[in-house]
Amino acid sequence: MDIWGNLFSQKSSIPLLDYSALTVDMHSHLIPGLDDGSASAEESLEMLKGLASMGFRKIITTPHVMVDYYKNTPEHILAGLKVIRQAAGQQDIRLEIEAAAEYMLDDGFEKKFHDGQLMTFGKKNILIELSTFTPHPNLFSILFDLQIAGYKTILAHVERYAYWYDKIDHYEELKDREILLQVNILSFGGHYGPVIKKMAEKLADRGLIDVLGTDMHNPLSIPAYQKTLKEKYIQRLLSSGKLLNPSL
Ligand SMILES: [Fe+2]
Repeated sequence: MDIWGNLFSQKSSIPLLDYSALTVDMHSHLIPGLDDGSASAEESLEMLKGLASMGFRKIITTPHVMVDYYKNTPEHILAGLKVIRQAAGQQDIRLEIEAAAEYMLDDGFEKKFHDGQLMTFGKKNILIELSTFTPHPNLFSILFDLQIAGYKTILAHVERYAYWYDKIDHYEELKDREILLQVNILSFGGHYGPVIKKMAEKLADRGLIDVLGTDMHNPLSIPAYQKTLKEKYIQRLLSSGKLLNPSL
């Protein structure tokens, strides 16, 4: 092995101690009272501090938007953003904080789309989640309509849709259609159970993951992110240089 080979192998054997390679987290629930995430301004602050200490520089927080449960409008979300930005500023938390939303592809989604009420981040990126239990009947047609309208869809926690587990081709087809696939960091730590962990690893093995997200809901989960850094899949992904987080 020549000197460059030696240097490379030494570099790759040093474990990463935080998530700073990602720079940006684009999936979290940090605004108090809007969804099943933060319950108070104190919890929001704890989570923001946790994310800063994990090495993130920029956060795009994404409250749930669902037709039945979380009827959050851009006005609600932007008012909440102001609250957490002010709180973070007072505590000298060095994070750039933005907000968008995590849209459930439910019966209310198309109306919001046609009314121009969708919140995006970066270059018209939109975070969309699907039902955990039932495949969406018109998924490809809605994704196509969004694409034509100039949106770049990021599908949230794709390792959690059990109805796709025996259809790895489905993930490949989504990527062929330029849909970005996001996986939750804690899935690699077994936080959601062994089946989801295995699926996350399978997606990583096939090179299908575009973006990692914390999907942080409460401060109690903060130690789990540190623990998950020990997972070889996370180490490999963070040092791959292939994830799109820093450019979001
Ligand atoms: Fe989420």
